[in-house]
Amino acid sequence: MVQVNENYLKLKAGYLFPEISKRVNAYIQNNSSCDIIKLGIGDVTEPLPKSCRDAMSKALNEMGTKDGFRGYGPEQGYPWLREKISDNDFISRGCQITPEEIFVSDGSKCDSSNILDILGNDNSIAVTDPVYPVYVDSNVMTGRTGESLQDGTYQGLIYLPINEENNFLPEIPTSKVDIIYLCFPNNPTGATITKVDLKKWVDYANQNNSLILFDAAYEAFIQDKELPHSIYEIDGAKDCAIEFRSFSKNAGFTGVRCAYTVIPKSISGLNSKSEEINLWSLWNRRQSTKFNGVSYIVQRGAEAVYSSDGKKEVKDLIGFYMENAKIMKNKLKTAGFTVYGGDNAPYIWIKVPDQMTSWDFFDYLLEKANVVGTPGSGFGLSGEGYFRLSAFNSREKVIDAMERIIRI
Ligand code: MLT
Repeated sequence: MVQVNENYLKLKAGYLFPEISKRVNAYIQNNSSCDIIKLGIGDVTEPLPKSCRDAMSKALNEMGTKDGFRGYGPEQGYPWLREKISDNDFISRGCQITPEEIFVSDGSKCDSSNILDILGNDNSIAVTDPVYPVYVDSNVMTGRTGESLQDGTYQGLIYLPINEENNFLPEIPTSKVDIIYLCFPNNPTGATITKVDLKKWVDYANQNNSLILFDAAYEAFIQDKELPHSIYEIDGAKDCAIEFRSFSKNAGFTGVRCAYTVIPKSISGLNSKSEEINLWSLWNRRQSTKFNGVSYIVQRGAEAVYSSDGKKEVKDLIGFYMENAKIMKNKLKTAGFTVYGGDNAPYIWIKVPDQMTSWDFFDYLLEKANVVGTPGSGFGLSGEGYFRLSAFNSREKVIDAMERIIRI
């Protein structure tokens, strides 16, 4: 028989969101008349922007013509999309990111895992705790950690707690770490980072030759004009940071699939002979071999995000979800909950009441209010005692969910 990748056997539990669905489905089976409201996984609910739909139908029709048909596209993405991204998301903010440094892909979740392909196995790795579980699980799967411990953490990973005491901002490590995952606006806590604080991380990374993997999938939700949308707004970041961006949450592409990763040409790592190797070249090589690009139709849809109508529609979508977040935060506060996040992110991070565990509160909300959220402990040890609610749902359902929670 074939040998399996035993690293998978180290994984402590199933992936968080399918695990939640399993529990919710089991509950529905036993309570067939219940009316569940899902504020768990951060999946969008509102229709795709019209400009994106129009661009995709036009592209589809082009594909039905002899002249407009396209087969494989460039593995890195079509130049016209990479140019729009560079101009609108970076140059307009003073970040000198060229189209060539942008790699269009089918998702940030995949890219933030696949990036490990070009990084050595012996790097020390730091993650915040709580954290988006993909960063941890993909390191476990590729053999970069030891076994899981009783408390659910993995040997070999460095955990940087984020909690009320440090205002959900990880402290800079006192010793050298090779790779650091940062996500701002943060999933799951909804916390943000200022330019001053992000500069401390960039300086740390440059002083220690570390690499920051910066997940900015939620940047579009930033309302505070002073906060950075990209790590490249910080001097020195082009020498130490890779950034992940997505069209999933801003333009509602969770089911369409389009994202991009920025790898500045100025970032290098070392080989075993201590020679400098350019990371851009390795990623370009990796993508050319393992990826055939995002479909032409979808890339045209993503391009439309940068049209004037597209920008307005995306702004309205973000405004809609952020209004949901505001309603949720206010109602929960009025009901006596301690609530974080939700001001510059679509996630509300609440303290679980009455000494319950996060999973106790999950069951309690499911049974008493038929509302689904995400237990904080699913994001890591330090998430215990917290609970995440997502602002992605219709206004009606969000209001209904809050009323149900207040009533119990
Ligand atoms: C979440 O709920 O944390 C997100 O849906 C994760 C993701 O975007 O993959």
